[in-house]
Amino acid sequence: MNPRTALVTGGTGGIGTAIVRYLARQGHRVATNYRDEARAQAWRARMAAEGIDVCMVPGDVADPGSAEAMIRAMERDCGPVDILVNNAGITRDSTFHKMDYQQWSEVVNTNLNACFNVTRPVIEGMRARRWGRIVQISSINGQKGQYGQANYAAAKAGMHGFTISLAQENAKFGITVNTVSPGYVATDMVMAVPEEVREKIVAQIPIGRLGKPEEIAHAVAFFTTDEASWITGTNLAINGGHYMGW
Ligand SMILES: NC(=O)c1ccc[n+]([C@@H]2O[C@H](COP(=O)([O-])OP(=O)(O)OC[C@H]3O[C@@H](n4cnc5c(N)ncnc54)[C@H](OP(=O)(O)O)[C@@H]3O)[C@@H](O)[C@H]2O)c1
Repeated sequence: MNPRTALVTGGTGGIGTAIVRYLARQGHRVATNYRDEARAQAWRARMAAEGIDVCMVPGDVADPGSAEAMIRAMERDCGPVDILVNNAGITRDSTFHKMDYQQWSEVVNTNLNACFNVTRPVIEGMRARRWGRIVQISSINGQKGQYGQANYAAAKAGMHGFTISLAQENAKFGITVNTVSPGYVATDMVMAVPEEVREKIVAQIPIGRLGKPEEIAHAVAFFTTDEASWITGTNLAINGGHYMGW
């Protein structure tokens, strides 16, 4: 394994933390962004206790100026980005006839526009170095739609459109671009859902349980290897069989 520098946006969250661990254990130098300094330092100390030294830079991925400054700070402090995981995301659920513009735009800005904001400042460097790995963390609900999530489903579906276009444009430069679409994973976000609602979700999953963050991280890590250099433009569903597109 060649050690690289990896940026995982939203690396302090449930799935992001698992991705940071996997990439660090593969020998990569791993970085993430933060918005709240005190929470970030507490998280960084927990990772350090596990033997993982994470490079941390301030940045709001929904804001183009902040995202660009974040990338430049990261390049200065941690090195140029070889591996980028666009993982930061939020939900603001509402049925569409009650949804306001703020709910729509926050979700589109944080999940989809962030892909532009963060990837644009790193893509030229990857092309110049002729090596790169970009992974979008989308969602099962971008593939199948979801009641109450027109904003989230639209943004997550858009992320895969971004993946397949970038995959075509950058294939000749040693850069692969793929999407991972998790189903319902046992993170704080999902565990906050009332138990009876969660039971209904689990009842729809053939494997009969929620996913684990490590199961998403494992797939992301696979896409970033040298051996995965012929895999580009895919959308990998990891959802316990909840939705089987083809
Ligand atoms: N959990 C699931 O079941 C599930 C299923 C399918 C897809 N996903 C996707 O997987 C990804 C990770 O989800 P998760 O469950 O790990 O969520 P999470 O625990 O809520 O973590 C989200 C992370 O994104 C960061 N973030 C949010 N908005 C940001 C912004 N504007 N700028 C920078 N960072 C920002 C958060 O940082 P702060 O602490 O600063 O807010 C946090 O580190 C998301 O894209 C989500 O849509 C999750």
